[in-house]
Amino acid sequence: MTTASAVDLDPGRFRRVLGHFCTGVTVVTGAGPDGPVGFACQSFAALSLDPPLVLFCPGKGSRAWPVIEASGAFAVNVLGDAQRDVSTVFGSRGADKFASVDWTPAGSGAPLLDGSLTWIDCAVDAVHDAGDHYIVVGRVLSLGDTGSDRPLLFYQGSYTSIAPEEMQPTPARERLDAFLTWPCGDDWL
Ligand SMILES: Cc1cc2nc3c(=O)[nH]c(=O)nc-3n(C[C@H](O)[C@H](O)[C@H](O)COP(=O)(O)O)c2cc1C
Repeated sequence: MTTASAVDLDPGRFRRVLGHFCTGVTVVTGAGPDGPVGFACQSFAALSLDPPLVLFCPGKGSRAWPVIEASGAFAVNVLGDAQRDVSTVFGSRGADKFASVDWTPAGSGAPLLDGSLTWIDCAVDAVHDAGDHYIVVGRVLSLGDTGSDRPLLFYQGSYTSIAPEEMQPTPARERLDAFLTWPCGDDWL
């Protein structure tokens, strides 16, 4: 096993190794005084059931994050496989990201993008400094409906999805009641 100290860590290798962790893709949105803002975000996770908390990590160079922080609320739009273009638009620094997508405001006012798999509407609960990013903890205000569309995935710097025949997942061993997103526990989801 090889190790790397902080001083000799190669950014390309860091990206390549971390790129092997496959994630979903979200668009985190907010409502600002000059209109809606949002950015593509893979660093989203469920955090706590009681109280219900989620987290995401905006870079310190994000233009959307200061607007979201000032508004005190955000919505997490979970993207489906048919929304690759949406991810690309919101993952860039384009002028009007909302020109090509229809949306409606959540209870908090943050935009809910049409065609998303589901959404989570949140109030900003805490912000932690973390290197060149922040860790933002959100308190869940309301949740969207769910369907059976295929999720958009991000893996090794590329978009991918789940093959239709893989949409019937194999249960992960026996019951994992303490695992946050395990769907079969008595006390979670
Ligand atoms: C699939 C994907 C995942 C991304 N995940 C993150 C993320 O977790 N955190 C982040 O700060 N930027 C992430 N980005 C990059 C931002 O979306 C991108 O820098 C965007 O231009 C920021 O927009 P803004 O400056 O309007 O906030 C991701 C981009 C893509 C395409």
